[in-house]
Amino acid sequence: MTYTSAWQSPSNIALVKYWGKHGIQLPRNPSLSFTLSACRTEMKMEVSLNAGTPGVTVYYDGKPKPAFEPKINSFFQRLDDRFPWLKSASVFIDSINTFPHGAGIASSASALSAMALCLSDIHELIEQKQQETNQPWLQDVSLLARLGSGSASRSVFPVAAIWGHSPGIAGSSDDYAIPWQDNIASVFHDYQDTILIVSASEKSVSSTLGHSMMNDLAYAATRYELAGKNILSLVEIMRSGKDLDAFISVCESEALQLHALMMSGANPFILMEPNTIAIIKKIWQFRNETKIPVCFTLDAGPNVHLLYPKIYQQDIQTWINAELTKFCADGVYISDHVGSGPSRI
Ligand code: PMV
Repeated sequence: MTYTSAWQSPSNIALVKYWGKHGIQLPRNPSLSFTLSACRTEMKMEVSLNAGTPGVTVYYDGKPKPAFEPKINSFFQRLDDRFPWLKSASVFIDSINTFPHGAGIASSASALSAMALCLSDIHELIEQKQQETNQPWLQDVSLLARLGSGSASRSVFPVAAIWGHSPGIAGSSDDYAIPWQDNIASVFHDYQDTILIVSASEKSVSSTLGHSMMNDLAYAATRYELAGKNILSLVEIMRSGKDLDAFISVCESEALQLHALMMSGANPFILMEPNTIAIIKKIWQFRNETKIPVCFTLDAGPNVHLLYPKIYQQDIQTWINAELTKFCADGVYISDHVGSGPSRI
């Protein structure tokens, strides 16, 4: 018997960063992210039960991609308890990312959340249950996605999500993300994120290694405490939507702290490039001169996420073309925005 499912699932960008973990992908501090739209994975999964040759076969864009198989196999091992059928199944996965190949954009959040969605769907089919998309089902998918990649837990929900327990945030949990779209002002529901591609190369240090370096970092406890405070400030700022200066201050401080942590360990590393810094200085100058509330955040890499309200789209576009594309690899940037979360395809 063969079962199939297909989902598209977006990437997300953290405003308060998750950096440091323990146990099986449990975060050391709560994080809050925007769910993106243009940057997403489209995935199709086929599962044949009691197959002669169990195992996973992975394709990317219609072509075999065995290099992805070890990571997926370890993810599947973590799901043995939940999906006992996986052990004896033959699983075929084909996916494609909508963002430009080799743009240096991490695909683990979109890919692992798409995988968790497909697996959960197929589980319902096997159990002959109704296919769901309601809140408790998505919560559970978020937990499964977390076991593959921590940040993937947040991609399951539209607009914004919080992952990690905070005593000040009802319902928050280390196990799964919770939806946050109903708790933020309308200005954030269509916030723009233009991703300036400073370098399209693969990351030189994996996030797994980066997280593990937090274990011996002298500043770790202070960082977790600060992240806990920042998320509570951001929750309040985003609820009212009235103080974009305060929003900017938390976002930029979080981005630079993430990179400062990388530079502070016993084996420090730098993921920013000279053009990352050049863009940041341009943003500060432009904001000073125009008072347009544009700010940046950074992921674990050199690319700059430019965040701004939709009403400034035209001004920002003109400025990007005039002043910023020269800092981008081959002039490439991705025009993304806060999005509506995953959907079946
Ligand atoms: O989900 P991981 O293990 O790839 O870690 C992601 C860490 C950051 O992207 C740097 C921050 C975050 O919260 O997404």
